[in-house]
Amino acid sequence: MSIPIYTYDAIVVGAGLAGCAAARELQSAGKKVAVITKLHPLRSHSGAAQGGINAAFSDEDSVELHEFDTVKGSDYLADQDAVEYMCKNAPGTIRWIEGMGAAFSRTADGKIAQRPFGGQSSPRACYAKDRTGLTLLQTIYEQAHRAGVKFYDEWYAADIIYKDGKVSGVVAFNIRNMETVIFNAKSVMFASGGYARAYKINSNAHANTGDGLSIVARHGLPLEDMEFVQFHPSGLSGNGVLISEAARGEGGQLFNSEGERFMTKYAPNAMELASRDVVARAILNEIREGRGCGPRKDAVYLDVTHLGKDLIMDRLPELRELAITFLGLDMIKEPILISATAHYSMGGIPVNIAGNVRKNNTELVEGFYAAGECSCVSVHGANRLGANSVLEALLFGRYVGKNMAAELDGIELRKATEEDANLALTELDFLLTNNGEETVPTLREELQQSMTANAGAFRTKESLEISVNKIKELRQRFKNIRIKDKSKVFNTELQEAMEFGHMIDYSAFIVQSAVAREESRGAHFREDFDTRNDEKFLKHTMAYMDENGEISLDYMDVVLGKHELKARTY
Ligand code: FUM
Repeated sequence: MSIPIYTYDAIVVGAGLAGCAAARELQSAGKKVAVITKLHPLRSHSGAAQGGINAAFSDEDSVELHEFDTVKGSDYLADQDAVEYMCKNAPGTIRWIEGMGAAFSRTADGKIAQRPFGGQSSPRACYAKDRTGLTLLQTIYEQAHRAGVKFYDEWYAADIIYKDGKVSGVVAFNIRNMETVIFNAKSVMFASGGYARAYKINSNAHANTGDGLSIVARHGLPLEDMEFVQFHPSGLSGNGVLISEAARGEGGQLFNSEGERFMTKYAPNAMELASRDVVARAILNEIREGRGCGPRKDAVYLDVTHLGKDLIMDRLPELRELAITFLGLDMIKEPILISATAHYSMGGIPVNIAGNVRKNNTELVEGFYAAGECSCVSVHGANRLGANSVLEALLFGRYVGKNMAAELDGIELRKATEEDANLALTELDFLLTNNGEETVPTLREELQQSMTANAGAFRTKESLEISVNKIKELRQRFKNIRIKDKSKVFNTELQEAMEFGHMIDYSAFIVQSAVAREESRGAHFREDFDTRNDEKFLKHTMAYMDENGEISLDYMDVVLGKHELKARTY
């Protein structure tokens, strides 16, 4: 069987905001570009971002304040050169996407409306009701299409072609029939999204299985700061579906079972609009101490009733629908039940500001780029501010696309051969033919339960080590896997098995990096080391995996700048 080889100038994996923005830039610069995505682009997880996109526009706000809030929010782990670049270019990014047709909500005098978000000194989140991500995604997808980008929808990127420090393509399967194709290109960009589906309760789309990270890691390349997983304070009770921070930005309040507005104890100044990690831990602490609400006592109340029907219908209509659909609670009339939900990956594929993937602390991989949630640039450090991720994806996606276009002429195409598909085909063949006793849903459930119980918002050495051992056990049991569907037509069971293999790999990075970081910083809260330790840990984790799944750790300096280290209070 011969394997077709398609040749492009550049391949982008993932069709969310970062992928579409990069592809549009490349195509507009006259390059031939294809986007490979396992979904229809408009189902990409960027579309689930609800509350807003940050930019310092107003007279009361400034780029410097945006930088300061971002660095403080990151618990000083963000690289300040990257933060400066992002905040400085945020207003221009909003004007750019608005000029292409994104319809933002407006103030009475016609300006782009901005709402308060957690950890921010000024109302800074530009929004389109509570469907901001979807509005932006529709716009950038339309524009990428208009520019002539070729989209391969429902294709599964299974491997990169990586040799001698250079990436020259992607091996992908057509999900419709498992046809294998080698996409040969001078450069490749990953914009393949995050990894919160490692947790049982999460706000992420089913597709967010972190494939891109594990594909990279399997080639011995590093992943950065993987221990930093964000728990969003407000997921719907029981299923974790996102209830945007916009609800608290508009004035929503949190109460425990005793009717106490408990944030007074945890963040007396910022209250419900403290940084996400602070609010999430406060909620979980209330529940742990027996003041939880709802039939299972595993939630707290989010109350927006005082905002009134008109405001809720105007600014939070989607949230209202979600709470009615999943909980049968109408937030116009009554408080709804929420709790923390795994939401976002601060860590990822290490890149410099221009999006070039790092081979280690000092070298870059030729022809390989990343942007958006799968990457770590690092503008979020140990904890991301709400409405900075949509900004990061769109802004860096565009910038990295431009940079790729500029660097393309200096890269020689290394011609692919059929052997480049061997690794991906071996994996596929194993999954289709292995006749063991284990099934993916069982293994995945055990992984997610263990990650939630032992590597969640609160961690200790002991709990993390339980997860380390669980992952080792699951890695062995995965070798004894059996999928029932042996067909090649829309074989979702097969796809889920490939995805589970990725989940195992990157979960090992999360827990091993977390065990070694003996401090508490941002979203990484160690109950056995409950303060920040700048002397030992003001550094990025760089983790590597060998062929047996063993993780080794190195560290990289944080880029400091004008915002000096301080204790973080809200
Ligand atoms: O709460 C939200 O609307 C989520 C936004 C974000 O994660 O940036």
